[in-house]
Amino acid sequence: MELLKRLCDAPGVCGHEEAVREILINAVGPYADSVHTDHLGNLYMTKGQEKQGPHLMFAAHTDEVGLMVRGIDEEGSIRFIELGGIDPRVLPAKRVRIGKDAICGVIGIKPFHLSDKEERKEVTPLSDLRVDIGASSKDQVERFVDVGDPIWFDTSFEQWGDILKAKAFDDRAGCYMMTELIRHEFRFPVTFVWTVQEEVGLRGARIAVARVRPDIILVLEGTGAGDVPTDKDVARMPFLGKGPVVTILDRTVVCNQRLVEFLTDAADREHIPWQFKRPLVGGTDAGAAVRVKPLHAAVLAIPARYIHSPVALADLKDIINTIELVKAACGRFGEVKL
Ligand code: CO
Repeated sequence: MELLKRLCDAPGVCGHEEAVREILINAVGPYADSVHTDHLGNLYMTKGQEKQGPHLMFAAHTDEVGLMVRGIDEEGSIRFIELGGIDPRVLPAKRVRIGKDAICGVIGIKPFHLSDKEERKEVTPLSDLRVDIGASSKDQVERFVDVGDPIWFDTSFEQWGDILKAKAFDDRAGCYMMTELIRHEFRFPVTFVWTVQEEVGLRGARIAVARVRPDIILVLEGTGAGDVPTDKDVARMPFLGKGPVVTILDRTVVCNQRLVEFLTDAADREHIPWQFKRPLVGGTDAGAAVRVKPLHAAVLAIPARYIHSPVALADLKDIINTIELVKAACGRFGEVKL
């Protein structure tokens, strides 16, 4: 839990993912045969490259959705842009941290009694929102904050029984699951890649797959849980606590059918619960991977409610079951004909 907490609490807005990388190298570097990074910031750890059999690459992305300083107004408020998909409805009145000194700030909102009826119904566009660090001039802000500084949500990890509350389960949950899996022994060559810049267009994975050239990629993710109230005619899956989420297809990839069946069979044999992801929603590094070279791709994710917002909820049981599913599947890997 300590490692998952550190991973979730670490800042890792796209392009500023060093803190996450440092934690990973320190935590599991000793379990790998080799550890390296590339210029973009992808982190690679290999195991058993001399072994026979298909080369399996695990991938999880180190970045999280966040904001970046775009400018500073004369009166000391901070303008920003989003990095990754963020709904402007979730931003007002949230606590944030900025830049290398992790300066505290809040995203301001006009109070209720100063807003008229119409204003209260409207969503303030991101371009009209400002971060307030309590400064009264541009000069004051510039002592602590620069244009281009990352801004991340100031949310700390908490455990409520099996339920976990944090920012960035997408995809520190995947990052964490790989730290458990790298301790495992595999009968075939395996490369673990913690990829950068997924949230802005699957950028790190493209470079990583070109370098590793795996036969199979298994992406480990945090995905949106669908078990929230809705009137719309859509499937409400996946559910928190009901096991690993298996992708059939999303907006970026059609997963290999036999690999999907192989994973779900492995889960059934071990009595590990699993569920399908709502089809055609979202995209992951697997979508980048299949565009680089011919390979077989699958995605396993834990469901988390309210992802891509300042705070999300996940279930510890789903994390444990996903790790167990991967271990069970890897034990039977020789049997799969793809
Ligand atoms: Co993700």
